Amino acid sequence: MAILRSLSLASILIATMPFFLSGATCRSVFLTSFDTLYRWYGGEQQAHLAPTPDLGNYYVGISLHPSYGAISILFENGTTVSQTVLGSSSYLETMHKLSLASSRHLAYVVLLLTFYALLKLPQSPPYQDLSDSLNDHTRVTARHARKALGLPASDDVGAIASIVPSLRDALSSSLGMSDVPISSAAVSVPHLVALYQDDVQDVLDYCKISYIEPDRYYRPLTWDTAATYAGYGLGLCTSWEDSEKCMEEEKEMQDHVVLAVNYGEAALTTAFSILSTATSLWEPDHRHRENFGLGAKQKDGFEGGEEGYWEAMKESLVETIVENPGYKKPEKILLSGERTGDERFLEVLKEAVRDVMGSVPEIYGHGAETVASRGVAEFAKRKRRSG
Ligand SMILES: *[C@@H]1O[C@H](CO)[C@@H](O)[C@H](O)[C@H]1NC(C)=O
Repeated sequence: MAILRSLSLASILIATMPFFLSGATCRSVFLTSFDTLYRWYGGEQQAHLAPTPDLGNYYVGISLHPSYGAISILFENGTTVSQTVLGSSSYLETMHKLSLASSRHLAYVVLLLTFYALLKLPQSPPYQDLSDSLNDHTRVTARHARKALGLPASDDVGAIASIVPSLRDALSSSLGMSDVPISSAAVSVPHLVALYQDDVQDVLDYCKISYIEPDRYYRPLTWDTAATYAGYGLGLCTSWEDSEKCMEEEKEMQDHVVLAVNYGEAALTTAFSILSTATSLWEPDHRHRENFGLGAKQKDGFEGGEEGYWEAMKESLVETIVENPGYKKPEKILLSGERTGDERFLEVLKEAVRDVMGSVPEIYGHGAETVASRGVAEFAKRKRRSG
């Protein structure tokens, strides 16, 4: 038995070795391995209950975007503090990669092949039926094994998780603290076809933060559109501390069609969605697009020059509306992302919308860089307080 343990111990050390070298972790590498050993020998996990006398109760939201992440902390007195951090190159690559199965406007054959491949690939939770869950067994087992070793569940999870400690550091220093304790957070993500619920949960797991699912939100992930809608103060009941009253209020809320646009360094994403409450998002696959060829950084060296870039932008912004001519047109435009303040971008957006709709609906764009993280922080507050 002792030999067995020593052997297993050695294999743990070897397995974690790449992490000693790469440093791409959420927590400190040494702490990670120490935790693992400590638990192996039956030690209790240390409670990291740092007292926070100054801050009182607070709620945390994290929004992950194609090129950066944002974090918002919402205090009991209503004050919100937000910070943003650029993603590492592996973060950017992973976000791009997870959008790729959506390259469906290439050609019919590619579409069919992709569809076929997707059917053949292991499914992710939530499972449609038992056979899905059996197909997924190997993948899930591998993830569990890695997690048991204190590693991220997959390389994608590790790459995305790498931004979380930077966000926490940025937030801590803006509050003049060495380390703000974050025990739970709500998280929003872009609507990428290959980004699954367990990826996002594992990112937080790995960072020892519990994942807050918004109340009455029945989608697998909190996508940008819902977070942005809430961040602009839309679709939120006023009497949220009384869940019955809140539900009555919510029943009275009308459906609104919105065009949600996220424009940043790495990508342009658009969603032509319907919501009444902020958590009632209706955004099926034919109503959203993620275009990693139209990020602000692609403008220089764009095929067709800068004018070609804006032409392509104009087309892409309203693509989902043009492709679904029978649908009710957007009543609001919701902006998010770090480049939506760009004057040319706003001009092109208005032109594109005016061309297909005849007029430009109300545009929400104040604080667009952190609007999604403020929205999910609000979800976190409502979930925890109504509890
Ligand atoms: C709200 O509370 C936070 C944390 O205690 C504090 O930093 C902030 O200054 C407060 N805001 C106001 C307006 O009192």
